Amino acid sequence: RTVLVLNGPNLNLLGTRQPDIYGADTLADVEARLKSLAGDLGLEIDFRQSNHEGELVTWIQEGRGRVAGAILNPAAYSHTSVAIMDALQACDYPVIEVHISNIHRREPFRHHSHVSAVAVGVICGLGVQGYELALQALDRIIGRT
Ligand code: DQA
Repeated sequence: RTVLVLNGPNLNLLGTRQPDIYGADTLADVEARLKSLAGDLGLEIDFRQSNHEGELVTWIQEGRGRVAGAILNPAAYSHTSVAIMDALQACDYPVIEVHISNIHRREPFRHHSHVSAVAVGVICGLGVQGYELALQALDRIIGRT
């Protein structure tokens, strides 16, 4: 079974982008760690990043009937994108939303995410470890279905 892992805008700069907030690990580090954990769980990882809202929408749609679940860090689109929320709502697979930083202790405009209303659960503020925690949770969720 395949888990889709989608990363939104500016996450390609992880490791060099505001490391005080997002840490020193790169997105490639996150991908490698997730793939290692996925191997232990008997899952495949389809890991992607885009700076384009429409591309993320298309990837979410293309997951229908193909992936068992998804982990999504929509980055800034969390706070603005009805299109990503609608795409997730049209999907048959469970999604866990991840934020590296604790969006609730940052600027007020980061406190609301459109995606949270359609996610199974949300992990935020635990650094890049959140991706691995999300994969462990998703493994149990899709194991039940
Ligand atoms: C983020 C939080 C968002 O507010 C921000 O726009 C990001 C990253 C996080 O992972 O903490 O780009 O999603």
